[in-house]
Amino acid sequence: MKRRISSQFRSHYSAELVKLPEGYRVSIAGYVVSVRLHGGVIFFVVYDGGYIQCVAHMDEVDVEVWKKMLEVREYFYVSISGCVSYTERAPNGVEIVMDDVRIVAKPNRIPPFHPYSRKLPSLDKRLDIRAVDLRRPQLHAIFKIRHEVLQAIRRFLVARGFIEVNTPKIIASATEGGAALFPLFYYDKEAFLAQSPQLYKEQLSAALDRVFEIAPIFRAEEFKTDRHLSETISLDVEMAFADYRDVMNLLEDLIVYIVNSVRRYCIAQLAFLNIGDLKVRKPFRRISYDRVISKLKDLGLEVGWGEDLSTAALRRLAEVYREPYFIVDWPRGLKPFYIKSKRGGVTESFDLMWGHVEIASGGSRVNSKRSLARRIRMQGLNTESFEYHLKVFDYGMPPHAGFGLGVDRLIMVLTNRDDIREVVFYPRDPSRLTP
Ligand code: 4AD
Ligand code: MG
Repeated sequence: MKRRISSQFRSHYSAELVKLPEGYRVSIAGYVVSVRLHGGVIFFVVYDGGYIQCVAHMDEVDVEVWKKMLEVREYFYVSISGCVSYTERAPNGVEIVMDDVRIVAKPNRIPPFHPYSRKLPSLDKRLDIRAVDLRRPQLHAIFKIRHEVLQAIRRFLVARGFIEVNTPKIIASATEGGAALFPLFYYDKEAFLAQSPQLYKEQLSAALDRVFEIAPIFRAEEFKTDRHLSETISLDVEMAFADYRDVMNLLEDLIVYIVNSVRRYCIAQLAFLNIGDLKVRKPFRRISYDRVISKLKDLGLEVGWGEDLSTAALRRLAEVYREPYFIVDWPRGLKPFYIKSKRGGVTESFDLMWGHVEIASGGSRVNSKRSLARRIRMQGLNTESFEYHLKVFDYGMPPHAGFGLGVDRLIMVLTNRDDIREVVFYPRDPSRLTP
C-alpha cells in the first residue's frame, strides 16, 4: 500500500508506521477517539482511517505544548508530531511519542456521547446526529465491512464475466407491483422512482449477456420494520442463457466469496463487533415453498397454500434453518409477471433467506412476448404501460435469469445488527426524510 500524500498536516498515515524504524519522526492527522491522563502521562487514540496511540510525558515536552495537550478532547481534529516507538503497551504494537500537537478543528458543541461510550442514545437519536455517531469505532467497523462487501461483489462478478451497468431511476411504470411506488412530477407527466432495474437489466442481458448493477431502489413501504427501508441499495444481476438453478449456484458462490473476503480483510472489525463465527457452507439448502408450508404446519403454524410467509413464520423457520437457505418454486400469485411459470401453479423462482431476513429474490424470466403480455394482463396491469419493454422482444430475447439482492440487508446480517438502519448512513423510512 502506497498512499503517501504528505501535507502540512501529515507525513504518514498510521497504517504506514510499522514500516518505519524506531525513532523515525512523523506527523499524523485525524480525530481523537479517546483521551486518558494518568499521573503525568497523556494518551490519545487518533483515527486517520486506522487507529494510532499517541503518548506524551509531562516532563518531556515543552510547558506550552503540555497545556495544549490538556485541552484536547474526544472528537478534536489534530495534527500530531512525534517519533515512532515500538511498544507492547500500544494496541497495534506501535505508538507515537508526541512532541507537538496542533488543534486543527474542535467541536463547538459538546457531543452527547464519547466514541467508546457504553451508554448510547437510541438509534433514532443517534441518526439525528449521525455525523457524531459515525465517529465511533463500531461504525468504522460496520462501514469498513460494508466497503469490503461492495468490493467483493465487484471482484467476484467481474471475474465471472459480468459487466457493471447503470439504468434509469426515473421511470414510467412499476415492475414489482403497484403499491410500493413513489410518484413524482416529470415535467408535465407522472413518473416514479424505480423499484428495481428489473426490465432494463433483462434488456441489457439480451445485448451484453452478463450484467450487474449496484444502485438504489425505492419502495414506498408503509410500515417500519427492522429490515425495510424506503431507499436501499440493491445488487441486481442478470444473465442470458441461464435459468434459476444457474443463478442460485452463482448467488451461493457469491455469498461464500463475500463472507470469506470479509473474514480475510475485516479481521479487526469482526473482532470489534464480537462476531466470532461468521461462516457459511455450500451447498445452501433448497426447500420448495410446498415443503416450507408443511414444515410450518409441523411447527404448529398454519399457512394457506398461496399465502405469503409472515414475519412470524420466517422467524420460526430461522430457528430451524441456521444457515442461509433458498425457498424455491413459489406460487405464481406471489411472484411478479416477469417470472417464468412451471407446472403445478408455481414458478421458477427463489428467495434466499438468512435468519428471518430475505436477502435476495430471483428466478428464470419469461422470454416470450406473448406469455409476458398475458402475465402482465393476468396481474391486472396494463400492457400499454409496458409497450416500451414488450417491443424489445420482437428483436429476439434469449432465455435469461437473475436476482436482486438487498445489499443493506446483507450487511445487516453479516454485522449481526438487529436493525437495517444501523448499517446505512442516512436511512430513509416512513418517518425519516432528514437529515
Ligand atoms: O424481492 P425484491 O422485491 O425483488 C426484485 O426487486 C426483483 N426485481 C429481483 C429479481 O431479480 N427477480 O427485491 C430484491 C431484494 C429483496 O430480496 C431484499 O433483500 C431487498 O431487495 N429489498 C429491500 N431491502 C430493504 N428495504 C426494502 N424496502 C427492500 N425491498 C427489497
Ligand atoms: Mg422478494
